[in-house]
Amino acid sequence: MEHREKIRIIDVGPRDGFQNVKPLIDTQTKLFIIEGLYQSGIRTMEVTSFVSPKAIPQMADAAEVAKAVIGRYKDLRAIALIPNLKGAQNAWNAGIREAACVISVSEAHNKANINRTVKESLDALEGIREALPDLEVHLDAATAFGCPFAGEVPKEAVLSLIGSAQQLGIRKVTLCDTIGVADPAQVKELLGEVTGRYPGLELTLHFHNTRGMGLANIFAAAEMGIRNFETSVGGLGGCPFAPGADGNTATEDTVHMLEKMGFDTGIDLAKLLGVVEYVDRHIDAPVTGKMLGVTNSACANISGRA
Ligand code: COA
Ligand code: ZN
Repeated sequence: MEHREKIRIIDVGPRDGFQNVKPLIDTQTKLFIIEGLYQSGIRTMEVTSFVSPKAIPQMADAAEVAKAVIGRYKDLRAIALIPNLKGAQNAWNAGIREAACVISVSEAHNKANINRTVKESLDALEGIREALPDLEVHLDAATAFGCPFAGEVPKEAVLSLIGSAQQLGIRKVTLCDTIGVADPAQVKELLGEVTGRYPGLELTLHFHNTRGMGLANIFAAAEMGIRNFETSVGGLGGCPFAPGADGNTATEDTVHMLEKMGFDTGIDLAKLLGVVEYVDRHIDAPVTGKMLGVTNSACANISGRA
């Protein structure tokens, strides 16, 4: 059998996707979608976030979701987003052992999102490392490609934030294009700098699709050797504290592209599209991924190859 290189897709729909949906989604519906994603072959998922329910009411059931997921799926990497020590402790108590600590590269967005300076957030990260040494913590570097308030984000600021996190023992970093302003040239440039300065890091990329650049950016990053991507079922998503942000790049479109490129995502696209269809019917947010519409159309069985 031909060997296909693996790419890891981390579906962040249950966190990034749901957090931006206004009407509260009941916990069973969330768990049903998570089950569908698991059955499609997704083995790494951001399942919820332990944030203030005043900031994000949709995530008030974080502990319930986390406990159910951890109880059900032994071979799923269930990641939770955390903003501070309280979130880390709550996540740990719910059984979470892998967390993404979100800190924005830009001061203005960190203030809007977490109500802290970047320095205060880094101090909180240090506190988390001390209080919970067995919790695997990643850095989610938000606004790494641009900020809704400050505009351009200097590469040096991205490198500096990563350096500070590395000093606290962080080995996994997600570069987040929180508002979807990145372009492939910028992606290659930033990745060149980051991998040059910090060769030992495990990098993940997270692109919102505001300008329709999500897949192009993933393509560029894959060409640069990145093998971990955060995407969202149906293309749901967006940060309520980042005005103008569109949803994440859709998992189904990403799987389609990467498999066509010869990568092995381990995800069954047909099964995944069943989940997208369910999301389309039951979640009050637009499905922006293209693949659901394609499979319902006359083009469904055309591969585009002679
Ligand atoms: N989970 C639940 N409750 C939390 C919490 C957490 N992680 N962190 C703080 N709180 C509670 C405090 O206990 C306190 O409760 P009280 O009013 O009953 O005493 C209250 O929230 C205020 O605490 P404070 O530390 O002053 O928080 P804040 O008002 O400065 O808000 C955050 C800071 C980080 C909690 C809040 O901005 C937040 O949750 N942001 C997340 C935003 C987000 O998820 N964005 C999208 C993903 S990137
Ligand atoms: Zn996001």
